[in-house]
Amino acid sequence: MTETTATTAAKPILELDNVSYSYTKGGKKVLKNITHAFRTGEVHSITGPSGAGKTTMLSLISGLANPTEGKVLYNGKDLAKQDRYDYRSHDIGVIFQSFNLLPQLTVAENIMLSMDASGKKFDKPKKELAVGLLEQVHLPAEYANERILHLSGGEQQRVAIARALSYGPSVIVADEPTGNLDMGTQEDIMSIFRTLAHEQGVCVIIVTHSPEVAAASDEVFELAPLRRR
Ligand SMILES: Nc1ncnc2c1ncn2[C@@H]1O[C@H](COP(=O)(O)OP(=O)(O)OP(=O)(O)O)[C@@H](O)[C@H]1O
Ligand SMILES: [Mg+2]
Repeated sequence: MTETTATTAAKPILELDNVSYSYTKGGKKVLKNITHAFRTGEVHSITGPSGAGKTTMLSLISGLANPTEGKVLYNGKDLAKQDRYDYRSHDIGVIFQSFNLLPQLTVAENIMLSMDASGKKFDKPKKELAVGLLEQVHLPAEYANERILHLSGGEQQRVAIARALSYGPSVIVADEPTGNLDMGTQEDIMSIFRTLAHEQGVCVIIVTHSPEVAAASDEVFELAPLRRR
């Protein structure tokens, strides 16, 4: 049992292999020759100054863009050669900096929408699963029927995490998930991510400016700013 866990924890699920990226053809490189491995069962932090390319790196990891040079490998296979829609709706859960929740819909409706989009079959009613996810992100079950626009920033952050978890992805990426939260909430969100990684074997990748979040991670990748010329 313990041995299996240790083997699983050491396996890279996502790899950046000599990746460079520029937003325009022949334009300045935002990322240059990045090689890094992300493993199942671990919380990884990506740090670096504003403009260093952290969000860009997440969009390559989450299959929203393809590298200009190099490869992103998911389970050893080049992401650019796979169905990226399938990857995005099944394998990876993304928590955006601005949450991207639908404010007029309820908490449960927001979560169920992404279950529907995954096209996955679920063994229980989706509403029941949504309520279960709320417990996992430390929100009371009554919140299921609350509209997003009535929730605080920290509560919306928790719903965004629940939504990203809704179809059981192997990788969770989050852009500044604790950006505007007080220290207690920040610690609680980090404990949710650590439980996901350590007890459910999810690979969690977090972009953060916070030294506390970085310290609570298993591994930190520091993205150095590129020298401009
Ligand atoms: N859509 C885009 N088109 C052109 N350039 C972009 C685009 N998005 C980002 N950039 C540029 O790429 C560089 C890296 O941006 P990115 O958003 O990845 O930085 P970041 O490390 O996430 O910064 P922050 O900490 O401020 O969020 C910046 O110079 C930015 O201006
Ligand atoms: Mg960013």
